[in-house]
Amino acid sequence: MDKNNDHEEWEARWNEDRIGFHISRPNPFLLRYWEHLEEVQPSRCFLPLCGKSVDLVWISERVGTVVGVELVEKAVQDFFREQQIVPEIRETPPFQTFSHGGLKILLGDFFDLASGTEEPFQAVFDRASLVAIPEHLRIDYAQCLMKQMVKGGRLLLICVDYDTSKMKGPPYSVKQTEVERLFSSSGKLELLESRDNLEDRLRERGLEWLTESVYLFEKN
Ligand SMILES: C[S@@+](CC[C@H](N)C(=O)[O-])C[C@H]1O[C@@H](n2cnc3c(N)ncnc32)[C@H](O)[C@@H]1O
Repeated sequence: MDKNNDHEEWEARWNEDRIGFHISRPNPFLLRYWEHLEEVQPSRCFLPLCGKSVDLVWISERVGTVVGVELVEKAVQDFFREQQIVPEIRETPPFQTFSHGGLKILLGDFFDLASGTEEPFQAVFDRASLVAIPEHLRIDYAQCLMKQMVKGGRLLLICVDYDTSKMKGPPYSVKQTEVERLFSSSGKLELLESRDNLEDRLRERGLEWLTESVYLFEKN
């Protein structure tokens, strides 16, 4: 799938309401492992490929500035409508910025983030984001993410691993060896937890097992 087809597919998913990845409560792993991000006393937290995640809200109750990036306008509009927040909207090419207080979503392509687009972040929460990126773009994704983080900044990363002969992503299967390849040279990576977590919606797509893993990464 090339980049533009990928964009069209995400637009279609949102417009056709094929968003089984969305959960209407804060992510349980975020709640369990938040303390690892809290330890660095972040004033800025980043959620790449944020969708309309309510994690944005949960984190914004704890951190001064929370920034998400999302490609599809419907996701961003739905987020603010569902949270009953009227955002200020500004043209900030190549993004459109939707903001309210310390909460901000950049509408546009994650890969258009340049080093200076945003002040760097002390904390990053990646849930269903790296695993939404096709394999050939994951090195670029990891490098772009590294540029958004301060030295000593921490990333909480949730990945899935499954038998790729049974299902094509997204979510793509991203194994521990790949996570190590992507991040280990930039800092310290630790596996916090792995557990079986095959949801019915993915069983219906042919999977027999799925392992969800949570990593903590600290940038050098
Ligand atoms: C699987 S969803 C996860 C959303 C969110 N992290 C959550 O936990 O609900 C991935 C999201 O990334 C968005 N997306 C895909 N490619 C993107 C890109 N290159 N830049 C920004 N957003 C992107 C999709 O529209 C989709 O909303």
